Amino acid sequence: MCGIVGYVGAQPAAPILVEGLTRLEHRGYDSAGVAVLGPSGLKVAKRAGRVRDLADGLPKRFGGKVGVGHTRWATHGAANDVNAHPHSDASRTVSIVHNGIIDNAAALRHRLTEDGVELVSDTDSEVVAHLVARSTADTLEGKVSEALAAIEGTYGLAVLHADFPDRIVAARNGSPLIIGVGDREMFVASDLAAIVRHTTTVAHLDDGEIASVTATGFTTYRQDLTSTAKSAVQLDVDPSSYDAGEHESFMRKEMHEQPAAAERALRGRLDERFGTAHLGGLNMDARETRAIRRVKILGCGSAYYVGQMGAGLVEELARIPADAEAASEFRYRNPVIEPDTLYVAVSQSGETIDTLLAVEEIRRKGGRVVGLVNVVGSAIARACDGGIYLHAGPEIAVASTKALTNMFLGFALLALQLGRVRDLSIADGRRLIAGLDRLPAQIEEVLAQEDTLAVLAKRLAEAESLFFVGRVRGFPVAREGAQKFKEISYRHAEAYQTSELKHGPLALICEQVPTVAIVPADELTDRNVGALHEIAARGGPLVVVTHEDVDLGDLTAHADLQRVDVPRNERELDPILLTIPLQLLAYHAALHLGHDIDKPRNLAKSVTVE
Ligand code: G6P
Repeated sequence: MCGIVGYVGAQPAAPILVEGLTRLEHRGYDSAGVAVLGPSGLKVAKRAGRVRDLADGLPKRFGGKVGVGHTRWATHGAANDVNAHPHSDASRTVSIVHNGIIDNAAALRHRLTEDGVELVSDTDSEVVAHLVARSTADTLEGKVSEALAAIEGTYGLAVLHADFPDRIVAARNGSPLIIGVGDREMFVASDLAAIVRHTTTVAHLDDGEIASVTATGFTTYRQDLTSTAKSAVQLDVDPSSYDAGEHESFMRKEMHEQPAAAERALRGRLDERFGTAHLGGLNMDARETRAIRRVKILGCGSAYYVGQMGAGLVEELARIPADAEAASEFRYRNPVIEPDTLYVAVSQSGETIDTLLAVEEIRRKGGRVVGLVNVVGSAIARACDGGIYLHAGPEIAVASTKALTNMFLGFALLALQLGRVRDLSIADGRRLIAGLDRLPAQIEEVLAQEDTLAVLAKRLAEAESLFFVGRVRGFPVAREGAQKFKEISYRHAEAYQTSELKHGPLALICEQVPTVAIVPADELTDRNVGALHEIAARGGPLVVVTHEDVDLGDLTAHADLQRVDVPRNERELDPILLTIPLQLLAYHAALHLGHDIDKPRNLAKSVTVE
C-alpha cells in the first residue's frame, strides 16, 4: 500500500528520503511527499504523480538532517497534491506520514472543526497532525501517545515536530514499520526495501508500540510510554536482491529468478527415504496431521488462484476435501469454523489486510491456521499457528511471479505431507519428489521460449478482449493467466472453464476475440480439444498451451492457431509449468503496449486496507 521512510542523522535528509521512496514505489504510486526539519523550521514538498515528479520539483533550498517521506495509494480522497502526505498542522509545527486507515476520522474531523481547526485535505490521516499539534504533553513521545489514544484504526506513523528537531517519533498498529540502525544515523521505514542500501540492522515495531528515534539510537514504548526495551537484529539479506540489475523491470528479473527461487523453496524439505516432505514450521505432529478432515485455503488475487491450484493438489494427493476462497469475502459470511479443518492463509507480502482479518476470524473462533507466506516475520506469518515460508526472496513487481511459483511448491509439499500420513503410497511420494526435483530445470526450459512467446504476446495485445480457458487442473491456471494479463496489459481478459464456454461465452467468440486455452495431456485432453473446435469454427484465434505429445488433430489446420509446449512432469504438478508461459505472454503484451509493468495503474503490491 503506501510507503513510509524517515531519516535522522548527519547527512541532508531529502536525497535519502527521495531515494528511499523510489524503492517503495511499488507499494503505492499516485502521489508522494517529503518533510524535513532544518535550521529554518519545517519544510514540506508533496505532489500528485510519481516520486520522480516530486524529485524534479523539489526546491533547491530543502536542507535538513531529519525528515520523513511517503508514497501514497489513495484510499480516502483523490490522488492530488493536497491529499498527498506529509500532512501538517496550520502553523507547520508538525508533519506526519501515515499508512493504514483511521476508522474514526469522521468523528475526529468533526471535533477538530468544532474547535476551530481548518482541515485542508480529504484524508483520514490529516487529523493525526492536528491531534499531535494540539497536545499539551511536554515531550513529542507524550504528544504522539496522547494523539494515538484518540485514534481508532490502523497505522504505521512517523511524526516530525519543529520543537523537537532531533527526532522522529514513530508508531505502529497493524501497518508494518521498522527502525534501521546506521552509523550515527537512523532510519524508519515501512519496508526494508527503502533502507536496505544503508543498513540491514533493524528492529521491527510491534502493534501498539511507539518508537523515539534520534541519530544515535532509539527507544521503544508501549502506548502508555512504559519501555518495551527492544533491540535491533542483523538481517541476513543481500541488498542487491532489491535491484533490477540488468533487467529492464523487476517483473522480468523475478520471472527469470524462478528456477533458483523454486530450488530454495524445496531445499531441505524433501525426504526421499519416506517419500514425504519435511515441514517443521507447521507445528503439527503426525497424529494432528492425520486428524485433518478438510482443508480451506484463503488468499487474495494471485494468491487466491494459486490457492485453487493448491486445493487441487491436496485433494489429489491426500484425498482430503479442499477448496480455496477469496479471503476478502470469507469473514463477511460468518463462516463456520471446524476444529478438524486446516485453514491455510496464502500471501506473498504477509500484509494483505483481507487475508490477515480472515486469519484473525478463524483464530478467534478456535480454528487452526497455517500460513504460506514469503515475508518472514510479517503480520500474517505472526498471526498463524505455524507455516511454510516461501523463500522466494524480495518480490518488488506488483504482478507476482516467483512468489506465486513458490506458493504452488508450498502446496505441493503440504499435500505430500498430508498424503503420506494417509493413503498416498511411498512410491507415489517418491514419484512426486522426483517431479519436484525436475521442476526448476523445466521452468528454465519454458523461460527459454521467451522470444517466441513475445511474438504471440504482441498479437494478443492487439485484442481488446480475450478469454483464458481451462478445465479442472487447468482452470486456476487460466484464472491466474487472465489476472496477470489484465493487471499489466489493461486488456479485458476473462477466465472460464472450457466446459462452460458453450453455456454462454461462446456468443462472444469471433475473429477479434482470441482464446488462450490450457490443454494439458491428461484425461480431459480430448474434451478440451473438442471445445477448441467450437472456437475455431467461429473464427476465434487460439493460443494453445499444452504438452508436446498432445495431438491437436484437425485443429492444426485452423488458420489462426499457435501452440506453446511446456515440458511434461507428474500430472499433479502440471499447473505450475502451464502458468509460466502465461506470465511471459502478459509481460510482453504490456511491454508492447508501453505500460509501466512493475507499477500497473490503480494497483499496489500489498493492499493493507479493506
Ligand atoms: C494485491 C496485488 C495482487 C496480489 C494480492 C495479494 O491485490 O495487486 O497482485 O496477488 O494483492 O497479495 P499477497 O501479498 O497477499 O500475496
